[in-house]
Amino acid sequence: MATQILVTGGAGFIGSHTVVELQQAGYDVVVVDDLSNSSIEVLDNIAKITGKRPAFEQFDLADAAKTDAFFQKYSGIKAIIHFAAFKAVGESVQKPLEYYRNNLNSMMNLLDGMRQYGIQHMVFSSSCTVYGQPDVLPVTEQTPRKPAESPYGNTKAICEDIMRDFCKVNPTANCIALRYFNPIGAHPSALIGELPVGVPNNLVPFITQTAAGIRQELSIFGDDYNTPDGTAVRDYINVVDLSKAHVVAIERLTNGKAKTNFEFFNVGTGNGLSVMELVKTFIKVTGVDLKYKIVGRRAGDIEQIYADTTISCNELGWQAEKTVEETLLSAWNWEKKVRGL
Ligand code: NAD
Ligand code: WQD
Repeated sequence: MATQILVTGGAGFIGSHTVVELQQAGYDVVVVDDLSNSSIEVLDNIAKITGKRPAFEQFDLADAAKTDAFFQKYSGIKAIIHFAAFKAVGESVQKPLEYYRNNLNSMMNLLDGMRQYGIQHMVFSSSCTVYGQPDVLPVTEQTPRKPAESPYGNTKAICEDIMRDFCKVNPTANCIALRYFNPIGAHPSALIGELPVGVPNNLVPFITQTAAGIRQELSIFGDDYNTPDGTAVRDYINVVDLSKAHVVAIERLTNGKAKTNFEFFNVGTGNGLSVMELVKTFIKVTGVDLKYKIVGRRAGDIEQIYADTTISCNELGWQAEKTVEETLLSAWNWEKKVRGL
């Protein structure tokens, strides 16, 4: 029988792509999502890609009683991939309690479920935000974490710590935190992708919406950074590549390959790309005449960050494969599909 995996937040951007990769690797997937930042149609589109609609339960994982009832019902779950969280950095500054309540309680309820129902394995969505602005680039897993600048970032660091402390006293538990850099792009089928509510905060959705005529002009936040072209540098990772890292992490856990029962890995490409380079690549591969202007820096932004992927390559046997060109094209194809262009 296929191994059953719980994917929390499986209707969301990264979760939906991971459900596809898991199903295509032969896993039986159960999705839990409260649809607070996603829609039910995503599950139908997953089914169009894989031929199978995952089992689905809609509830808030911050609700302990509902989470417990879920684990009673689904007694065959062997591992959890925990994506469900609120993720808007700016909003978290305005609504700290909502962010701490949602992101921390969900994590603790799931770990309670693992302990209570004997589930050993969890992969957690952490973020490069835990490194802040690092003193040395690229960042390795040993690069010190910095105090988070936002409640959102703080929830990622605290969730890592909760997992670590849980694993110390639960030796049968096996957990991996994946620290994502900047996930972008969409599935090559253009059936699933990123669908931000309202005005996008992130660069690539803002670019594709501008290219689609929904936004007038892209603002590039700052060209006076200490980088080769003055614009900020990030490590943009294709969402399908990122999703595959989760399948590899699940295999590492379930095959007993983890070196300790709490591990964490960088998931990026290892390449830093500036905002301007990304914008110019988008224009080159799509042929769209994207309107943009340089404005002042965005408050709270870091200058540059990109991953050292040596440890994730060696330990997970995983590395990013897709080029930034094909990734940006996939994001554009998805935007066009969504807008009927
Ligand atoms: P997303 O918002 O698209 O997906 C998260 C999903 O979780 C949504 O479908 C939402 O409805 C659901 N959800 C939220 N709170 C829930 C709750 N209490 N109970 C049940 N469902 C709930 O976000 P994403 O971009 O796919 O991110 C997935 C994870 O990866 C998040 O934990 C995020 O913090 C992390 N992450 C994202 C990025 C990024 O740039 N997208 C970078 C680093 C880390
Ligand atoms: C990328 C670059 C902007 C929009 C955020 C979170 C981080 C992680 C990933 C979850 C920056 C510039 C952006 C625009 C621009 N998420 N930009 N014009 O800020 O690196 O990271 O998402 O864990 O925690 O902070 O991503 O896509 O917002 O910005 O010039 O309209 O693009 O200033 O340099 P960021 P981003």
